[in-house]
Amino acid sequence: MTTRKILVTSALPYANAGLHLGHMLEQIQTDIWVRFQKMRGHECYYVCADDTHGAPIMLAAEKRGITPEQLIAEVEALHVADSQGFLIGHDSYYSTNSPENKELAQQMYRALRADNKITSRTIEQLFDPEKQMFLPDRFVKGECPKCSAKDQYGDNCEVCGATYNPTELKNPYSAVSGATPVLKTSEHYFFRLGECADFLRDWTSGNTTRADGVVQPHLQPESLNKMNEWIGGGLQDWDISRDAPYFGFEIPDAPGKYFYVWLDAPIGYMASFKKLCAQLNLDFDAWFKPDTDTEMYHFIGKDILYFHALFWPATLKFSGMRAPTGVFAHGFLTVDGQKMSKSRGTFITAKSYLECGLNPEWMRYYIAGKLNSRIEDIDLNLGDFVARVNSDVVGKYVNIASRAAGFITKRFGGKLADSVEDETRLLGNIAHEADNIAAAFEAREYAKALREIMGIADVVNAYVDANKPWELAKQEGQEARLHEVC
Ligand code: 2FM
Ligand code: ZN
Repeated sequence: MTTRKILVTSALPYANAGLHLGHMLEQIQTDIWVRFQKMRGHECYYVCADDTHGAPIMLAAEKRGITPEQLIAEVEALHVADSQGFLIGHDSYYSTNSPENKELAQQMYRALRADNKITSRTIEQLFDPEKQMFLPDRFVKGECPKCSAKDQYGDNCEVCGATYNPTELKNPYSAVSGATPVLKTSEHYFFRLGECADFLRDWTSGNTTRADGVVQPHLQPESLNKMNEWIGGGLQDWDISRDAPYFGFEIPDAPGKYFYVWLDAPIGYMASFKKLCAQLNLDFDAWFKPDTDTEMYHFIGKDILYFHALFWPATLKFSGMRAPTGVFAHGFLTVDGQKMSKSRGTFITAKSYLECGLNPEWMRYYIAGKLNSRIEDIDLNLGDFVARVNSDVVGKYVNIASRAAGFITKRFGGKLADSVEDETRLLGNIAHEADNIAAAFEAREYAKALREIMGIADVVNAYVDANKPWELAKQEGQEARLHEVC
């Protein structure tokens, strides 16, 4: 069997709050796949990091009277504890605010500039004259230009659903200082995404032949449809710069200009892996050269497809590196059919789940039992959660052990029988399912894999019912048979 070399990532959580069950859905999905690949003997690494840059994090730190570095250190500790609490096995968990990431981001930018993929021009944006900073859309508020609802954000109205530019808001004010914003010009740097259209048409609809000969499509069919829509609608240049004050990395040869957080965030995958390579003595460059035979997969939510299926492959490719082997998007986690909501009391953090004393394996099982390879939302219903865990994990799976463990410990010194010659058919039937189950895990059809596994649990429980170890235990001369059945 070919040993594949596989790099796997989950999206980098923003360093502004602890993780919630939506984050855990993704990390559980990724972790299951990584455990599976490792169990198959492949060389597989799971990396992640905190996404630390941007105006919201800078402002949140300021509000608390601490530095952004203090805030992100605090949040990283929370994130690591949340992930570990859910038994997520990151091989490397790092930060986008790292020396490796700075170097990689600047390298990538220089390579893109050398390939004529960077341009600059002057744009006009809302500026907070009191705070002396340009305002991200989310930090401008005012009255909706359509329905006049008060206190709406600069990009969309939560009352009537309209979308617009922040400059269209009536009576706008800065959510940072309350001041009335003014229009101000500034030079911005752009990645010329439009120049990458031919490559992106090929890449999005294309595939990579893995080292073991299997053909891996880069995108799921639903993602490809979306990308075709977007590419067909025309690809705009992407604004990759932000003005000081900004928490991030300065752009080379552009004093006072910083990389937009979304430019250096995915490079954070590479930085986290680079740190791991240094620890394990792996050849980082070999994983990122254009003709590498290594695989790279990104597990992400459906809301950040644009970044991972367009900007990311394009910036990698035109800076002379490999592109991803696959981008695997999942749907959102809903609770009782609705978006998690703090006011409805359905916003569940990783920490609160664990602090209730709930076992992380229960949530892992429940989520796995609903996951497939498509981009569908997954609903958490607490009644259903309890029922699934009780019927499958306790009633079927643990039940098998509980029906045999007592005899094995009390009668056989905790040892299994040397041979099970009379049961080769049962065991053969079970082993026969292994390939199907493996194929389901590989294809991220976890719900299917678990149905097959629970089907086996049913077969085994039926075997126990038929062979009645509790009766064998009472019969003379049935010692060996009891041992075998157990
Ligand atoms: O949407 C988010 O939560 C981002 N922090 C994800 C970044 S993923 C990667 F590109 F870094
Ligand atoms: Zn409105």
